[in-house]
Amino acid sequence: MVPSLGAALSVLSPVRAVWLTLTAAFLLALLLQLVPPGLLPSCAIFQDLIRYGKTKSRPAICRSFDVPKRYFSHFYIISVLWNGFLLWCLTQSLFLGSPFPNWLHTLLRNLGAAQSPEGELVLSAFLVLAFLWLHSLRRLFECLYVSVFSNASIHVMQYCFGLVYYVIIGLTVLSQVPMDGRNVYVVGKNLLMQTRWFHILGTMMFFWSSAHQYKCHVILGNLRKNKAGVVIHCNHRIPFGDWFEYVSSPNYLAELMIYISLAVTFGFHNVTWWLVVTYVFFSQALWAFLSHKFYKSKFASYPKHRKAFLPFLF
Ligand SMILES: NC(=O)c1ccc[n+]([C@@H]2O[C@H](COP(=O)([O-])OP(=O)(O)OC[C@H]3O[C@@H](n4cnc5c(N)ncnc54)[C@H](OP(=O)(O)O)[C@@H]3O)[C@@H](O)[C@H]2O)c1
Repeated sequence: MVPSLGAALSVLSPVRAVWLTLTAAFLLALLLQLVPPGLLPSCAIFQDLIRYGKTKSRPAICRSFDVPKRYFSHFYIISVLWNGFLLWCLTQSLFLGSPFPNWLHTLLRNLGAAQSPEGELVLSAFLVLAFLWLHSLRRLFECLYVSVFSNASIHVMQYCFGLVYYVIIGLTVLSQVPMDGRNVYVVGKNLLMQTRWFHILGTMMFFWSSAHQYKCHVILGNLRKNKAGVVIHCNHRIPFGDWFEYVSSPNYLAELMIYISLAVTFGFHNVTWWLVVTYVFFSQALWAFLSHKFYKSKFASYPKHRKAFLPFLF
C-alpha cells in the first residue's frame, strides 16, 4: 500500500526535515563536484561556500568573508558548554527526578520530540549525549594542543553553520528521549537494567574510531613540527601512517565511524539519527574528495593506491 502524504509528513518531524535538507544539499554538492569540469559553468561563490582550508582557492573579492580556520575551536567550545548543559539537564532528570526547564521542553516539542513513554531507551540517548560531549571535549583539546593551523580560512557562513551545528545536534539527541510531560520516562526502576548488547558494541566502536581520529590529527600536527615538537612550518605535506595508508582523509572517515557508532548505541533503529549519519557521510565525502584532488594536483609522488574517503572504494 502506498503511504498517504499525511502519514509521510507525520514521520517528517522538524528535526528530521533539518537533517534531510542538509543531506540533500551535501549530496547535490558532491554530485556537482563529480561532474567533469567544463560540463557545468563554474560558480565562484558556490565553490567558496563548499570549500575550506587547503582546498580553497578563489577570487580576492570572496576573501572579505574569510574567518581563520583556527576558529574551529569555537565550535567545540560551544558544543562542550551547550551539550554539557543538556547532559546536566538529562542527568538531573534521570537521577533526581527534576523536570526539564519549561523553555527546553517547549523547544524539544517544537522540534518533534515524542510525547510518549514508548520508543527509545533513555539509556541509549544518555550514552549518545555523553559520547557527543566527550567527542567535543577531545576535539577542543586537539584544536588547542595537537593541531597546527596554517593561515587557512573558512567562509563566514561556514563559521556560522559550525556554531549552530553543535547546538542542533545536541537537541536532536535530546529530542529522542522518551518523555512523560516535562519528565524523562524510564522503563523499569534502574537505568542500568536497560543495558543491551548494542550499547556495548556502540561504546567499543566509539572509542576505537575516536582513537584513530586522534592518531590522524597527531600525524597531521607532527608534519609541521620537528623531532623536539617545535612548529617549524605551516605547509601542507603528504601524511603517512595509520589509516592514511588507505585514504587521504582518514580523520573524516573516523568522523563518519563515530557517528555510526552512535547509531549503533541507539540500537540501529533510530531513523532520525541515521539521517544525521547520512548528512555526515555526504559532507565528509565531499571534503575528502576535494582534499584528495588537492593532494593529487600538488604532489606528483602522491601514493597511487590511496583512495579519498572509503578504503579501496572511493
Ligand atoms: N561533523 C561535521 O560536520 C564536521 C565538519 C567539519 C570537520 N569535522 C571534523 O573536524 C576534524 C578537522 O577537520 P578539518 O577539515 O580541519 O581537517 P583537516 O583539513 O584534515 O585539518 C586538520 C589539521 O591538520 C592540518 N593539515 C591538514 N592537512 C595537512 C597536511 N597535508 N599537512 C600538514 N597539515 C595539515 C590542518 O591545518 P590547516 O587546514 O590550517 O592548514 C589542521 O590543523 C575532522 O576530523 C573532521 O572530520 C566535522
